[in-house]
Amino acid sequence: MTSFATLDDPSRAARLVLVGAGAMGANWASLILSTAGAELVGAVDIVPGAAARLLAGLSRNTAMAAESLADLVGAGIAFDAIVNVTVPAAHHAVTTDALFRGKAVLSEKPLAPTVAQAISLAAAAAVTGRLLMVSQSRRYFRGLTSFKRTVKALGPVGLLTNDFFKAPHFGGFRETMAQPLLVDMGIHPFDAARFILDDEPVSVYCESFNPSWSWYAGDAAATAFFTFSRGTRFRYTGSWCSPGDETSWNGAWRASSGQASVLWDGANPPVSTHADIVPLDPAEPEEIAAALAEFIRALRTGAEPSGIADRNLVSLAMVEAAVLSAQRGAAVRIADVLADARNAALGAESRAEVRAHLLAQQAGVG
Ligand SMILES: NC(=O)c1ccc[n+]([C@@H]2O[C@H](COP(=O)([O-])OP(=O)(O)OC[C@H]3O[C@@H](n4cnc5c(N)ncnc54)[C@H](O)[C@@H]3O)[C@@H](O)[C@H]2O)c1
Repeated sequence: MTSFATLDDPSRAARLVLVGAGAMGANWASLILSTAGAELVGAVDIVPGAAARLLAGLSRNTAMAAESLADLVGAGIAFDAIVNVTVPAAHHAVTTDALFRGKAVLSEKPLAPTVAQAISLAAAAAVTGRLLMVSQSRRYFRGLTSFKRTVKALGPVGLLTNDFFKAPHFGGFRETMAQPLLVDMGIHPFDAARFILDDEPVSVYCESFNPSWSWYAGDAAATAFFTFSRGTRFRYTGSWCSPGDETSWNGAWRASSGQASVLWDGANPPVSTHADIVPLDPAEPEEIAAALAEFIRALRTGAEPSGIADRNLVSLAMVEAAVLSAQRGAAVRIADVLADARNAALGAESRAEVRAHLLAQQAGVG
């Protein structure tokens, strides 16, 4: 159980600063403004005017706009935490800055673009004693919880599959990434597989490619085949340039056990001809609202949230292992990816106290 600083007065609202006023930042700002127990006190974006424009479009807003966290602090704005909704490449710098200012961080996925950077961030959270949580928003769906509970009651799962076929034209950073599907989207089903199975992956074999009609520069399609520690195989097949008959954003799930198969299309309640479906809980919050609720609860009570950075590292390692496997044309072990990332994190770390923590972890005392 990781401990971290909590609110001085758990009955007051958590004062939050949104960092990153892009497409997803707008969703977060509206959510924070409509959440009891949260107060939006600032918005930051490095693009001049972007934070101000986002705030101007919101009703009931009293937050201040700025181009950096330092400007906001300089203006005397007091806050407890940031919500990091910047592009993935900025996550490490933005999160580290906030942690070392003594602020908690709720980060959009991915925690960082590499496992090494994510390990550095988890260590920075430990050193500063601040909460660092990832909003892995696709873990929070009533249908997914029902699917997981139904599957769990059936005993061991032999094969778990997820099929994801969409055709979004995002523009922006995804269209120039080398592995847009695996890196920006794969993290969701990979993390959900760990959640469904309550088990950890051991290895992966993956092939990725870019269909001839793709509007992405990098590989927009992939199949990844994971082996989990208790023997379950998890097969993910996805494409981000697949117009027509698209799946839901959660993809279509299927779990096959010795007694029954359970199917969840990612949008409607799960179905099965041979298993009793655990009903959906209508009171269960979903997506980023659920992540924010968990974050605020953690700041108030000190209860460890499911998205705490340490626990998210293996989901990120699944992504990195799949990308490596696609590059090498061979299976990759998750433990090897984590070990290499720990070494890379140590090699790249510029903060002495974080480096000391990483060294202590490697020596088995951290
Ligand atoms: N959970 C989900 O379903 C979901 C959906 C979409 C996006 N996301 C995640 O949200 C994040 C943002 O995605 P987006 O689609 O909003 O991207 P975006 O490009 O629309 O917005 C990102 C914003 O961050 C700003 N920014 C970049 N570097 C910054 C820095 N150092 N300091 C302050 N601002 C900075 C940019 O100027 C931009 O306005 C990504 O991590 C993405 O993976 C999650």
